[in-house]
Amino acid sequence: MPRLSSRLLDWYKKNKRSMPWRDHPDPYAVWVSEIMLQQTRVETVIAYFEKWMKLFPDIPALAKADEQAVLNAWEGLGYYSRARNIHKAAKIVAEKFNGELPRNLEDLRSLPGIGRYTVGAIASIAFKMDEPTLDGNLRRVFSRVYDISEFADSPAGEKILWGLAAENLPKGQAGDYNQALMDIGATICQPKKPRCLLCPLMEICKARENGTQELRPVLKAKKAAPQYVHAAAVIVERGRVLLSQRPADGLLGGMWEFPNARVETDPAKELTKALNAAYRLKVKRKEALGVVQHAYTHFKVTVHAFRCESVSIPKDKKLKWVKLVELDDFPMGKVDRQIANKM
Ligand code: ADE
Repeated sequence: MPRLSSRLLDWYKKNKRSMPWRDHPDPYAVWVSEIMLQQTRVETVIAYFEKWMKLFPDIPALAKADEQAVLNAWEGLGYYSRARNIHKAAKIVAEKFNGELPRNLEDLRSLPGIGRYTVGAIASIAFKMDEPTLDGNLRRVFSRVYDISEFADSPAGEKILWGLAAENLPKGQAGDYNQALMDIGATICQPKKPRCLLCPLMEICKARENGTQELRPVLKAKKAAPQYVHAAAVIVERGRVLLSQRPADGLLGGMWEFPNARVETDPAKELTKALNAAYRLKVKRKEALGVVQHAYTHFKVTVHAFRCESVSIPKDKKLKWVKLVELDDFPMGKVDRQIANKM
């Protein structure tokens, strides 16, 4: 067995973190956990995972669920297309694969939201297949152990890193190998200030030898995220508040928000005109309710919320009067949930 994998497996036996989906690696549980864990830390995911498995205990249950209930269960995890995709994929699995996640890698890969990383994770952890995988954590660990100076997020770098993941894989133990790398990436080989003295790979790590740990992985510089300012209206009448549903696809697809629009410089002054342009909604602005900020992947937004009174509200399918006591049933992103909590 290569030195790297024997070290990893020894370390994992003693140090593996306990996680609910690790104790019973049933394919559906592994799938749900892997999708939740993309962009989200284990500590955050655990509570969501447990709630999810109670609400949707198996693939047929998820397939039958209402999309709003699915988004509701995902609320707070972010990247809501992951929830829409796993829901779509469950419907396909229920119909085409008899409710069981297919073991054929191409079939698996054909499902919405399942890319190369997730195929490798599910195949190795749930199906015990000898499949490598590569996520941000593994990319960082391999970039350091082999001191890779190629851009890790370029096609050439990807090819090198997938090659290393495959070539070190110990037959019959791919699930433990992959998860050992994930755990080390998350807890030891961190992006900043890696804890090399605790690392089972310290003696074979080229970056450690060369002192280049913090320079690896080499990533292309990201463009600065643009910053937008929005004004939002909180219109309450007779115990109901006006919400607007976002288009089914795209950012926060299918979720609910307070009517809002982008403004240039002065949210208070521009609010009424901007809402009229965006929704043909006529309102009278009252007092400011507060300011909420959020950083999405590609931009940042600051939302200024104002209590408003309605002057005229167009008939529009996406606009809905929602009882204040039912606000929690309407899935919202972080910004709008914070505004809702300010009311
Ligand atoms: N990150 C993504 N998947 C993981 C897993 N199965 N174990 C630990 N961390 C992970």
